[in-house]
Amino acid sequence: MPIAPTNNVSSLVQSLGEFPPEAVVFGKSDMMQALRERMDKVASANVPVLIEGESGTGKDIIARMIHGLSPWRTGPFVKVNCPAIPGTLLESELFGYEKGAFTGAYGMKPGRVEMAHRGTLFLDEISELDLALQSKLLQLLQDGQFCRIGAQEDKKVEVRIVCATNRQLESEIETGTFRQDLFYRINVVNLHLPPLRERRSDIPALVEYFLDHYNRKYNCRARDLSSDLMSSLQKYHWPGNIRELENLIKRYVILGTEDVISNDLVMRGQPEYLTADINFDTPISLKKLTRQATRDLERKIILRVLQANHWNRKQAARALCISYRALLYKIRDAGLPANRAVRPPEEDVPATAAAD
Ligand SMILES: Nc1ncnc2c1ncn2[C@@H]1O[C@H](COP(=O)(O)OP(=O)(O)OP(=O)(O)O)[C@@H](O)[C@H]1O
Ligand SMILES: [Mg+2]
Repeated sequence: MPIAPTNNVSSLVQSLGEFPPEAVVFGKSDMMQALRERMDKVASANVPVLIEGESGTGKDIIARMIHGLSPWRTGPFVKVNCPAIPGTLLESELFGYEKGAFTGAYGMKPGRVEMAHRGTLFLDEISELDLALQSKLLQLLQDGQFCRIGAQEDKKVEVRIVCATNRQLESEIETGTFRQDLFYRINVVNLHLPPLRERRSDIPALVEYFLDHYNRKYNCRARDLSSDLMSSLQKYHWPGNIRELENLIKRYVILGTEDVISNDLVMRGQPEYLTADINFDTPISLKKLTRQATRDLERKIILRVLQANHWNRKQAARALCISYRALLYKIRDAGLPANRAVRPPEEDVPATAAAD
């Protein structure tokens, strides 16, 4: 029997909070426009979504937007920050427990899965779930059922599951720490958030938004940035993505001088794009080392473009300005997987799964 919505959970059911305007969130780049279209389409369907992206790229905002656009938008939005809850507590937090289920279980407690009934359960940093919890989550995704700790019977719940990760789940599958069958269940639709360094043209709009936002918040009057500084911001590689940019502007607003930002950027420096391990004990072959470094870089570029195109190889080939055949050859040559993960048997592949 479906469970009734619980009403003692207000502290865990989050309000969606405020979003930056959509023009700021999605900016102008083609990549973000494609992502927005994909998000709009998927939001209205009750299918699981996996949001991937480096730290600070906006996964949290997108998860909340999906909920805000879903048919269950008036229902609860329940976020579980998986790494923040110690492993032993995570099961009871997620699935709840019955009275007497373990020492100290003096009363029954519903889990966050139940709290998200007719709403969205947002599992942040999903790779942190251990294998036992992954099995329970798989059951929930397969038939909408779960079992409180210590309960005799399964319960049924209707919930939209959105997961986020800043890790490569494919590598976790390879090392055996993430279940492949769960990966296919959570990854019915995949949204890949590009790092800020891949959408530099959106930096001025973001800067303008944060300046205005923090000027108002802190009652300050920091002026627009000079064009020199803006162009330095557009060249910087932003390892911390939008969060790093936001914090930088916040500091500028509070401290009020551009030197704060310029000095910060100098201190942070630029990444080393090419690294070569040089063994000084043997003769150094410049030709060989250069070839190796070029191959490594090519592999990284192809991988990034495949990810940005949701592993649609035809689209990736167009983006790289090479032929489809050439891309297939390079993928094989670089030892990259032919698809984003080894495919499951045909009947298990969700119809909308990412891949070409
Ligand atoms: N497109 C955007 N427009 C404006 N602000 C943004 C945008 N994306 C992210 N931010 C801001 O950047 C900060 C980080 O965003 P968010 O928490 O959504 O990132 P995340 O991908 O979930 O990061 P993490 O992996 O570290 O949890 C937040 O303060 C958020 O408001
Ligand atoms: Mg987050």
